[in-house]
Amino acid sequence: MKIQGIKWVALATAAFSLLSSQVLTAQGADARIKIDTDRQVGEISPLIYGNFTEHLGRCIYGGLYEPGSQLADEQGFRKDVIEGTQKLNATIVRWPGGNFVSGYHWEDGIGPKDKRPTRIDLAWGARESNQFGTDEFIQWCRKVNTQPYFCVNLGTGSMDEARNWVEYCNVEKGTYYSDLRRQNGFEKPHKVIYWGLGNEMDGNWQMGHKNADDYGKYALETAKLMKWIDRDIKLIASGSSDYGGNWIEWNRTILSYLKDHVDYISVHNYVGNRSNNYYEFMGSTRHAENVINITRGLIKEATTKSNRRTPIYIAFDEYNVWYRGAAALEEHYNMEDALVVAMFLNAFVRNADTVKMANMAQLVNVIAPMFSTPDGLWYQTIFYPLEAFANHCKGTALQTYCDSKTYNLGNAKVPYLDVSSAYDKENKEIIVNVVNRHKDEAINTDILNQSGVFKGTATLYEVNSKDIKDMNSATEHPVSTVTKQIDVNGNTLNYSFPAHSFTLIRIPVAEE
Ligand code: AHR
Repeated sequence: MKIQGIKWVALATAAFSLLSSQVLTAQGADARIKIDTDRQVGEISPLIYGNFTEHLGRCIYGGLYEPGSQLADEQGFRKDVIEGTQKLNATIVRWPGGNFVSGYHWEDGIGPKDKRPTRIDLAWGARESNQFGTDEFIQWCRKVNTQPYFCVNLGTGSMDEARNWVEYCNVEKGTYYSDLRRQNGFEKPHKVIYWGLGNEMDGNWQMGHKNADDYGKYALETAKLMKWIDRDIKLIASGSSDYGGNWIEWNRTILSYLKDHVDYISVHNYVGNRSNNYYEFMGSTRHAENVINITRGLIKEATTKSNRRTPIYIAFDEYNVWYRGAAALEEHYNMEDALVVAMFLNAFVRNADTVKMANMAQLVNVIAPMFSTPDGLWYQTIFYPLEAFANHCKGTALQTYCDSKTYNLGNAKVPYLDVSSAYDKENKEIIVNVVNRHKDEAINTDILNQSGVFKGTATLYEVNSKDIKDMNSATEHPVSTVTKQIDVNGNTLNYSFPAHSFTLIRIPVAEE
């Protein structure tokens, strides 16, 4: 990736104009959020709470896999990492990269471990021992109870390699690669459904980088072969990651080639607080939302020219804060980073009609919510908003009206409250997710139910700490989730969202 400079374009203002009104509630509250369960955006796909693991630094080796560690199980998987991943309720995990995949040959990572070659990984200037490969990743996914999502090598890799990988994983028996899997001890097919067609192929940092036409043609031919091996797989095109380039044209062109063959187009975005400007950083996820909105339009444009009956969705399959340049990408996160992660998730929920998968990059040690040491695992600040969303924000995303004060950022007016909401019909709950971007002031807010009444005990999950620069470590843990309960009865819930906080509220609604 190329880290997106936090520089705001005029486009950013359009999507936010509704939210920037200064009209305030008469009842003394500083802000109003209006919820109406009839105004639905779309079903929240559980796959938006996914993650990503790459052969990079200590993500796989020393993260997922550390044979010989007192914390590993009999297969060499770190038990504490499995437990943390389960707490995050990770629904899908992407693997093996990232930039790494563009030089990866999957056959190096199967069969007897003492026969597997060590290769040079040009993406990260490392040695790859191949001790962890396809079968190990599948075993790890089964232990975690998550869905595997493989990305194929469309950098230095061939079409044959890609289709053979599908055969190895998904064909039951009686062919060269399916029998090879069985010889390796896996009688039942792995049944990998999700397959990415290359990683960040728009970026010149990528091995085998291509222009949009060349990628479109190559990905199309590869897609055909992969689907002819198993027509039940779902394919993800490698969409934009280089926002310094002509990313709109990239997405448009590749969709024109792949519109009849892919189920998702991926987009990536990393943000950072490079100039140590808190309010600028608090506005940084608006770029991701623009990318979503524009890509939704491009999908529409492409699919009106296609005969397909099913939609193409967005897989936001790499997102996070990443800017500190830490060795081996072992970024150490603070409170403000946790707010930005919550705002990425708000953007995915607000656009639940089209964002049907998202993967935080990455899972452990490498720009990650979890950090392993030889003696244990601790959770970074960004773990907590993801954990709250993944465990509590489900159902149908709702259009949310929010009226809060704004601050100026370039030409834009950014509301202090960043909000998304959902209706969980099964549990008869409304879920409201609120980031208070204000650095110093709490915002007293009325949440109004326009389609019924709140009744019962609401549960709040709040992530906050004294200072926006507070960080967790192996010994100190100032940032975590605090749970509170409030009784509600009527159509309004009033709550004061603390300065620089994220709060997820589950509010029971009365039976009709
Ligand atoms: O997640 C780290 C790297 O960021 C990935 O390898 C690549 O896809 C992106 O540029």
